[in-house]
Formats: sequence, structure tokens, C-alpha cells
Amino acid sequence: MKIVKSVSEMADLCAGERSSGRIMGFVPTMGYLHAGHMSLVRASVSECGLTAVSVFVNPTQFSPGEDLKKYPRNLERDISLLEKEKVDLVFIPEERQMYPDGYSTFVDVDGSLTERLCGASRPRHFRGVATVVTKLLNIVEPTISYFGQKDLQQALVIRRMVSDLNMKTIIKVMPTVREPDGLAMSSRNSYLSASGRMRASLIFKALDKAREIAESGQRNSGVILKEARDVLFSQEGVVVDYLEVVNWSDLSVLEYVEDKAYLMAAVFVDGTRLIDNIEITAKAGGNKNDKTGI
Ligand code: PAF
Repeated sequence: MKIVKSVSEMADLCAGERSSGRIMGFVPTMGYLHAGHMSLVRASVSECGLTAVSVFVNPTQFSPGEDLKKYPRNLERDISLLEKEKVDLVFIPEERQMYPDGYSTFVDVDGSLTERLCGASRPRHFRGVATVVTKLLNIVEPTISYFGQKDLQQALVIRRMVSDLNMKTIIKVMPTVREPDGLAMSSRNSYLSASGRMRASLIFKALDKAREIAESGQRNSGVILKEARDVLFSQEGVVVDYLEVVNWSDLSVLEYVEDKAYLMAAVFVDGTRLIDNIEITAKAGGNKNDKTGI
């Protein structure tokens, strides 16, 4: 496994590999790797002739006052995990490699896809994500890039960007990996206290309960969301940022669940913001009018 720190060396190595005709898979990360990241890495290693992973805590995607300084890091452990999975290239650029003095170009995906949900609570977050992902894709030029479904809005923003800007990589979105109690894997779970960790598991329980209600025929989003809120608020110390039923393709809010929808949640536990989502497949002809419980 080769560790590369310079942008030009990474670009040269990737260009060389591409010319040999190998399919290149790429997993961009901010490090502090967990089982969710590793499932993306494994998918790439099994599907591609060569796998590159980047580890870069991207400052431009943190809003003012967010956790950039305390974002968890453990490079040594990340490297040993990637080595075990037989990753070929690990790109670990310094901040000044990615954003040298005078850096002034940003990629903005306009519209409701970036303005709503996480975009509403994290100003300029998706601009930072779109910018760094564009830079990484330009450096690596992978055949396939892997993202996790936990960050569904991010994945859709990147898909939009790749399509709008005629970028050539294929975007694959892989299922969310969960702890045994359902909590979605996230580097930020490491911020939680023991009691916070227990309360955090309510997020998946709430989403799953709401999914069950929807799949048993309830299509009224208000009723479905009330079920989720009841689970979340069964304990104190859980603050909801957003909880919404949205359309699967553009994340627009749905008053009634269509055949396929997502239930999206962002929740603060112990001051840590955690996100999750679950797919809902509504039962044909379900109940649209039941307003019980709203
Ligand atoms: O999902 C992440 O870890 C980051 O947003 C990404 C895609 C690596 C860009 O910094």
C-alpha cells in the first residue's frame, strides 16, 4: 500500500494506473475509519482492479462554530485498517496541498437539494463537500466512487454535481452500516457519553417504528412522524433538528408517502449532531386520510 501526500504525485500515480486499463475505485473519507467506511473500501476492493482511499478532514465543509478542531483523528489506525483490506493507494494531503495560499474556487450545487435538511442547519456545508469532492475526483479520476447512504443528501448532491458537470465517475451509494442496536456508524459517535450513546440508539428505533407504521398502510406523513417523535422523546436530552418524510429522488417534503420515500432525521444528543435515514416502501392503496394523532 502506497501512502501519498502530494497532489501532483497522487495525480501522476493515478494517471499511470488508469493507462494500464485497470478499473479504479475511490473512497473519499475524513478518516477515523469505522465499519461504515470499511464496507465502502471492501466494495471497491472487490469490484475494482485498484482502490484509492483519501483521508482528509476538509475544513471548508465545517460551518463556523462546528467541530473542525476536535474532529476525531487517528491516522495510524486508519492506515493499518486500510492496509489489512489491501488498499493500493492512500492519499493523505496536508491542508495547504488542497487549499494553497490564494485558493479561491468553490463548487456550489444550487437549489433545494442543498438548501434544505442539513443544508439549512449547516450553511455552506455542501459547498465545501462539493468543492473537495470535485478536487479529489479531478486528482484521482476514478471509474467508480463510493459513498454511504447514511449521508444520503450528500450522495444526492454529489450525483447531481457529477451529472451537471459531466464528470466521468460512477457514484455508488452503499447501505448504512449500523451498530447492533441500530445506531448508524459515524465518526461523531465517539463524542457521545455512555448515556448519550444509549439515547442515540433511539434515532434508528424511531425511524424503524415510523417505517413499520408506513409499511403497514399509513401514508400520512404527519401520523408517521408523530410515531417517530414519540420514540425519540421517550427520553430526555434528545433535540430534533429535522425529521421529515421526503421524496426519494430530490428530497422534497412529502405530505403523503409515495411508493418509495425516505424518512430523514438529524438529532442532537449531548450537543452532538447525528444524522440517519431509512427507506420507506409504502403499501399500495394505503391510508392517506387518517389524521389520528397529528
Ligand atoms: O462523507 C465524508 O466523510 C465527507 O463529506 C467527504 C465525502 C469525504 C468529503 O470531505
